[in-house]
Amino acid sequence: MRHLISPLDFTTEELDRLFDLAADIEHAPSKYAHICEGKILATCFYEPSTRTRLSFESAMIRLGGKVIGFSDANSSSAAKGESVSDTIRVISCYADICAIRHPKEGAATVASSKSLIPVVNAGDGGHQHPTQTLTDLLTIRSLKGRLGGFTIGLCGDLKFGRTVHSLIHALVRYENVNFIFISPEELRIPDYITEMLKEKGIPYREVIRLEDVLPELDLLYMTRVQKERFFNEEDYVRLKDFYILTTEKMELAKDDMLILHPLPRVNEIDVEVDEDPRAAYFRQAQYGVYVRMALIITLLGLAK
Ligand code: NCD
Repeated sequence: MRHLISPLDFTTEELDRLFDLAADIEHAPSKYAHICEGKILATCFYEPSTRTRLSFESAMIRLGGKVIGFSDANSSSAAKGESVSDTIRVISCYADICAIRHPKEGAATVASSKSLIPVVNAGDGGHQHPTQTLTDLLTIRSLKGRLGGFTIGLCGDLKFGRTVHSLIHALVRYENVNFIFISPEELRIPDYITEMLKEKGIPYREVIRLEDVLPELDLLYMTRVQKERFFNEEDYVRLKDFYILTTEKMELAKDDMLILHPLPRVNEIDVEVDEDPRAAYFRQAQYGVYVRMALIITLLGLAK
């Protein structure tokens, strides 16, 4: 039985197969409309979510399967003190696959160790968010035609942003990826990530001003400041509008640079930028459904 806890749980060859399947689903969805008939997905969300939970649910329903779950820890037995381990043992009796989001780092790993069904980590605290990474990789592959051979700027909350941490881990496996980390001093990328890049000899730079590096980028990955992981409101208020991508700033960027964002957006991308053909974040949300469809098929062992 397979789980998806970290973006590294699949080899790059396995990811290629997953992305090929996602591309086939995109082009011929009717072929897959009944493949999960009789199967149940459980979504166990102990933290707020719109995209991740609903895209999982949409994915399962589009595959002909059904969905059960909860979207608020207070409406589950966690409110009575039940452990994640016990919850997943029980969910294993009700569903065939489970997507779990939890505020504690490592919660999905604990769940997978006790589970009788495949577990997908849908975000564990500030740690990892592998299905967002699959979404990001499929978007890049589909719109750029390749994974690797680019300079990517990651901008915003690089300290608490789990999508950033997962994406970097996944991208280091491709050739010629050059990272530029753009953040205020307080929200710098964690040392364990820069140590990993140094060890692997992968080029990176850390800068504060977005305008200084915008002309160099092939991809710009914007993120929101992760309010819920701050210890005090004052720091959040001071940092939340540190970066605002505007149409004027976009004049500095390459004609074919893509703007990605895991969403939700707060203020970091001006809504006027949405009209720019380089803005790819809403297309990215659509790719999130195809890739989750491909993932469910794969983890249930239904891929040919
Ligand atoms: C991200 C998350 O939950 O980490 N959202 C998502 O799943 N698309 C990003 C975020 O909340 O900022």
